[in-house]
Amino acid sequence: MVVSENRAFLRLFSLYLFIQFSVTAANFFEPFNVTYDHRALIIDGKRRMLISAGIHYPRATPQMWPDLIAKSKEGGADVVESYTFWNGHEPVRGQYNFEGMYDLVKFVKLVGDSGLYFLLRIGPYVCAEWNFGGFPVWLRDVPGIEFRTDNEPFKREMQRFVTKIVDLLREEQLFSWQGGPIILLQIENEYGNMESSYGQKGKDYVKWAANMALGLGAGVPWVMCKQTDAPGDIIDTCNSYYCDGYKPNSPNKPTIWTENWDGWYTSWGETLPHRPVEDLAFAVARFFQRGGSLMNYYMYFGGTNFGRTSGGPFYITSYDYDAPIDEYGLLSEPKWGHLKDLHAAIKLCEHALVAADSPQYMKLGPKQEAHVYWDNTQTNGLNTTLSESQSTCSAFLANIDEHKAATVTFRGKSYSLPPWSVSILPDCRNTAFNTAKVGAQTSMKLVEDANAPSPKISAPELIMTKNEVSSISDTWMSVNEPIGIWSVNNFTFQGVLEHLNVTKDTSDYLWHINRIYVSDEDIAFWEENQVSPTLVIDSIRDVLRVFINGQLIGSISGHWVKVVQPLQFQQGYSDLILLSQTVGLQNYGAFLEKDGAGIRGQIKLTGFKNGDIDLSEASWTYQVGLMGEFQKIFTIEENEKAGWTELKLDATPSTFTWYKAYFDTPDGTEPVALDLGSMGKGQAWVNSQHIGRYWNLVAPKDGCPETCDYRGAYNSNKCRTNCGKPTQTWYHVPRSWLQESNNLLVIFEETGGNPFDISVKLRVPRILCAQVSESHYQPLQQWLHPDVIDGKVSINDMRPEVHLQCKDGHIISSIEFASYGTPHGSCQNFSEGNCHSPNSVSVVSKACEGRNSCFIEVSNSGFGGDPCRGVLKTLAVQARCVSSSTIGVSQL
Ligand code: GAL
Repeated sequence: MVVSENRAFLRLFSLYLFIQFSVTAANFFEPFNVTYDHRALIIDGKRRMLISAGIHYPRATPQMWPDLIAKSKEGGADVVESYTFWNGHEPVRGQYNFEGMYDLVKFVKLVGDSGLYFLLRIGPYVCAEWNFGGFPVWLRDVPGIEFRTDNEPFKREMQRFVTKIVDLLREEQLFSWQGGPIILLQIENEYGNMESSYGQKGKDYVKWAANMALGLGAGVPWVMCKQTDAPGDIIDTCNSYYCDGYKPNSPNKPTIWTENWDGWYTSWGETLPHRPVEDLAFAVARFFQRGGSLMNYYMYFGGTNFGRTSGGPFYITSYDYDAPIDEYGLLSEPKWGHLKDLHAAIKLCEHALVAADSPQYMKLGPKQEAHVYWDNTQTNGLNTTLSESQSTCSAFLANIDEHKAATVTFRGKSYSLPPWSVSILPDCRNTAFNTAKVGAQTSMKLVEDANAPSPKISAPELIMTKNEVSSISDTWMSVNEPIGIWSVNNFTFQGVLEHLNVTKDTSDYLWHINRIYVSDEDIAFWEENQVSPTLVIDSIRDVLRVFINGQLIGSISGHWVKVVQPLQFQQGYSDLILLSQTVGLQNYGAFLEKDGAGIRGQIKLTGFKNGDIDLSEASWTYQVGLMGEFQKIFTIEENEKAGWTELKLDATPSTFTWYKAYFDTPDGTEPVALDLGSMGKGQAWVNSQHIGRYWNLVAPKDGCPETCDYRGAYNSNKCRTNCGKPTQTWYHVPRSWLQESNNLLVIFEETGGNPFDISVKLRVPRILCAQVSESHYQPLQQWLHPDVIDGKVSINDMRPEVHLQCKDGHIISSIEFASYGTPHGSCQNFSEGNCHSPNSVSVVSKACEGRNSCFIEVSNSGFGGDPCRGVLKTLAVQARCVSSSTIGVSQL
């Protein structure tokens, strides 16, 4: 009786489970398994070659996500990758945040919706130029904790968070076997770089982390990056600029590249990095050429370090990264387009790449080589002879010579290979793509002034600022931030406390106040000996500001640097105030929990008559943060609480001041930025949203080459730009944070600046250029033309083409330059050469104007005959894009 009741219950229960599953299944895909062999990930039983696009969801707004994902897909990505950000998801221990920019589930679902897969790198240590490498700052306070080693408290916390994430994703049915997009997970991050610092405990920790991850029942494979001792089933993967020589630690594991650094991050006061796309494409092609199977761009979209999320010390608010999609979500061309072509070429080879267990290697010259992938499966399966057009092999021909082009012979045919390049031959005969031949369009984004707001004050006062036409507002209010103590929450302590122990990173700022007595004899002593008293501190980070009686007298910044600051005192008591500031917490290195911030070592005053005064053990009064910060005067709700007064146009720039103004949103859909180039250092908020830190530090004058040579191994110092200019002056304000009018902008300024010169800018992809010669290859999509597939037409009968496309709702309004012949120069600097087809402009205008995109064949026939026989001809075009609504209006 009991038994049969049990059975009935079980039957009912399984029916219930079945219904539950079928009702709640995410259904992005038919559920599928992910495994792997030595060659590739095996997705639903098939090996795959995969291109992955790194996008960190909290570096964009949820409103931007769909477009970023769509642009990744259009660019040829199969996978989207992100880390998780523990300190964003668990800001207070046990209190989770999965809302807004931290809505991980929504992000993964959007990726699933678009038909792409997901690679989630949980970490939970992530590095990523993210504050504290992703660790919540409260983690430092867990008793007995040591990060990233065989330490019980750390392991307990780490396991709790990783479990939380995996459980959440499983409940939401987001793993592949549930029909979700997640195919791969990562535990830890580049621990191999740190392992030796932790001795045996480091080794034990790796094993523990691997077992812990595998024990969570996520049901998809796990990777560890830069972890040559990744245990058991965990795949060790490569992070670098190049990963084509990489071999995982077991012959049963596939070669995976988790971070292809397609650019680099930058710091305040540095130039901007740039990785040329010819080299990036070379690196990717070499990876797949030599047996790689999954490559992730770090980053495909870098985005913005909003709020105080940027790591450090000293990483800027922009995380543009020189990625294929820029900080604002616009395509960075020709990077995006050239990689799109590359991905299409790799896809044309995928059947052969996955069919072969390993490539056939052929040496073609001293620095030239081919790798050939044979696909015998088709002949075996059908047992018939394949027609010419049906590819049975794909090949990659590389010229790794950094200087010289080479002509090689491959299977009886001659190929010319530019230096440092790879040609991809999907059919082992015809070149579909060469990494050094960029046919994709260039897009020049202009930063344009938004519509000037209507003047709110009388005309004469406008004369004060030279940029008044574009300035954000003519009316500014200001209020001073108190220097030193501002609340009853101050406290006094004997000795110098470590910065983070006090602030818990709730603010960048920590005030230290001391009262110094100066006697008549001291003053006389300084005068007689022509010396001044000096503040000497062994070591500080990141910024220290020194005030005497409320006056800022010195600022020092650096990463654990010595302070030697001359002081001037009056006779009697003076307040010596030290403001210690963080500019992004350390995100890389061993023993992060011990790193700390602020003041370290001895702190003393030298030069006094009776000798040095040691302040290290003196009684200091501490105050965390700014009054305005804690009163939240940057929010719509609380800003009225401050005693704002109107700022006079002739006011002298003042330090430690809050400013506010209201501004209207510029029309249109183009991304919006604030130009804070007139300010010093501080933070800015728009409609209560923290858009980030700003700092007007200028980059060194030297170190930017006139031309960037793509050839040879890249490093982040190559091809730098922006020498002698402030590292960052434009700060992204996502459109979704703006309302039509009366947006509240609040700025906290530390060093003095002119808010009247702050302006709103629009980032507009305005100019398109392309330059394609007769020696370029046919457009990639022609390979999929039915006539080419059927063998009716040979790909060789097709001509190269220029393809222009205005993105983001823009259309081509005019052709500013076109020359078929031998044009000179580059985008925005083209000129006609000796050979020029007179109808160039009319042909291109006819094909393109008024359209969102157009194709123009690069051939004599398209331009009414050969303008110069026997000469290699090029078509160079420059076009202007305008928003389609503008055209609509102007044509009416
Ligand atoms: C890697 C790290 C990433 C990121 C990158 C540099 O070593 O894994 O998280 O920090 O360097 O952008």
